[in-house]
Amino acid sequence: MFPPLTRAMAKQLYIETVGCQMNMLDSELVVASLRKQGYEVVDSPKRADAILFNTCSVRQHAEDKIYSALGRLKHAKKYNPGKIIGVIGCMAQKDQRLIFDRAPYVDLVVGPGQLHQIPELIQRVEAGGGQQLEVSLDRKGGSRSQVEQSFESYDPLRDPQMRPTPFQAFVRIMIGCDKFCTYCIVPSVRGPEQSRPPAHILAEARQLADEGCREITLLGQTVNSYKYADGGRTWRLADLLAELHEIDGIARIKFVTNYPKDMTDELLTAVRDLDKVSPYLHVPAQSGSNRMLARMKRGYTVEEYRDMLARVRATVPEATVTSDFIVGFCGETEDDFQQTVELVRASRFKNSFIFKYSERPGTKSVQLYPDDVPEDVKKRRNNELLAVQNAISEEDNQPLIGRTVEVLVEGPSKNAARDDDGSDALQLVGRTHCDRIAVFDGNRRQIGQLLDVAVYDANAFTLFASVVTAHVGPEVFQL
Ligand code: SAH
Ligand code: SF4
Ligand code: F3S
Repeated sequence: MFPPLTRAMAKQLYIETVGCQMNMLDSELVVASLRKQGYEVVDSPKRADAILFNTCSVRQHAEDKIYSALGRLKHAKKYNPGKIIGVIGCMAQKDQRLIFDRAPYVDLVVGPGQLHQIPELIQRVEAGGGQQLEVSLDRKGGSRSQVEQSFESYDPLRDPQMRPTPFQAFVRIMIGCDKFCTYCIVPSVRGPEQSRPPAHILAEARQLADEGCREITLLGQTVNSYKYADGGRTWRLADLLAELHEIDGIARIKFVTNYPKDMTDELLTAVRDLDKVSPYLHVPAQSGSNRMLARMKRGYTVEEYRDMLARVRATVPEATVTSDFIVGFCGETEDDFQQTVELVRASRFKNSFIFKYSERPGTKSVQLYPDDVPEDVKKRRNNELLAVQNAISEEDNQPLIGRTVEVLVEGPSKNAARDDDGSDALQLVGRTHCDRIAVFDGNRRQIGQLLDVAVYDANAFTLFASVVTAHVGPEVFQL
């Protein structure tokens, strides 16, 4: 028997994660595997024995941030030559050796399809093996099945401390993307679209429920394209939701991100009929101009997007819908942009994420069109669209004032977390089934509970509420 690791023996790991929920989940899995190797997670890179950056390549800005963080570590090994510095995730897959060229003190470059190798790669570095590079095949680096196999779906180990909260967890149902929108780097860094077997997903969800998870969020770049064929039966997302709904302990099921063209009536009916499935749909439109949508190769027209939205509203009237938009895509005129404004006005999204187009080397749009919208125009369009969206978000939150909503209490609000003095009474934050954020005064023991709160005010982003006191029945008076 080995003695248990004491604090002094444990090695310290600092991990910084940027990008989407896929990356948050990947970091959880990497941490789980490194804990087995004696690492504990710390929140400062200063004294850490290993520093990992889990990176994103979706926009230039995300990459710049990582390269400047790496720049700050230039002298980090002077005082601790054994310190291990690793770059993992999407930028590792995209830039590969270039990372060693730009930051020669990096020990480890590991793509998102090779994360399972990290514990072994770290051991190799520790044993003096030098720089380690593990990435998957390029999309054109072999046959479809060879490329597929080079992207490992990596989901067996979980780590409760790395989750958004102990009672909320992500569950990957597919990896990769085959849509190839012309602006997007994801299909090349995350590999071909592959759905996980339903049995694996269900087993993982059951395990999470046993560990006390109340909410699971299913992840996929185009989560509603989920398709798994086995033994003459084909599973779609609606089938998965029906099975997940049966798991005791799970109270809420969410799924992101949806591809507009794959929003089937069958799926919408499942959202309507299964109580645990949140009436909340993230279905990015990207643009309101058919000319832009065609250039983006999104595969639908604005009219088709609007029809899809009309089906959502007809089948699940209480559902909130959210979207992403790219402004300033190649050749976007003021008229194209105004069509996007028009779509936002008409669609009444709960909120929208708005991005300025960022040219990504290696994507189709770089070959096809010049990035010709000036930065200041992109910025102005971004602000204008955001203002239109925020006004709608605020307006649509007003009817909730005076109503009671059920929230899953996630933890201390941002303010309370900042000046937390450890007392039981504090401001809490929770989310409604529709993914609206509510803050209210409560008690620490309510964290993780489903709680009724009465809304007394609202702005574009937040509902302000108070906990509804438990109903006091006549039997109390008989005591
Ligand atoms: N798979 C998801 C999201 C992928 S990335 C989907 O298809 O909706 C998240 C968002 O980043 C996208 O929805 C898009 O709005 C934005 N995005 C992707 N590539 C971009 C680029 N090159 N420049 C700016 N924004 C981009
Ligand atoms: Fe990128 Fe399009 Fe795939 Fe989304 S669907 S990840 S935007 S290529
Ligand atoms: Fe970024 Fe990779 Fe996600 S590029 S958005 S972290 S899939």
